[in-house]
Amino acid sequence: MPKIIFVSPEGGRTTVEASDGDSVMQTALANGVDGIVAECGGAMMCATCHVYVDDDWTSAVGEASDDERGMLDFAASEVRPMSRLSCQITVTGDLDGLTVHLPDAQI
Ligand code: FES
Repeated sequence: MPKIIFVSPEGGRTTVEASDGDSVMQTALANGVDGIVAECGGAMMCATCHVYVDDDWTSAVGEASDDERGMLDFAASEVRPMSRLSCQITVTGDLDGLTVHLPDAQI
């Protein structure tokens, strides 16, 4: 199973096992990772699942779609070039070791 690493704003790292086909958001919620709210449940309607993809993983994860980028405008924390909505990142074996950084706030 791929492992996903969540890094808190304070630098704490939480490594969890993910299932292929789940989103990074679902993986966080299933494992009790603090810092992902996901109010809309993955419908790309809330921007409370915002993460910063680690520099080493941006090409593997890819860029946000135009719709996703539009929703990121509503994110509570600063939007950066590597910002993504974690509900829009699907876990695959290629993302084993994916590291995402959590923003200071989601709401
Ligand atoms: S969970 Fe709402 S946009 Fe991702």
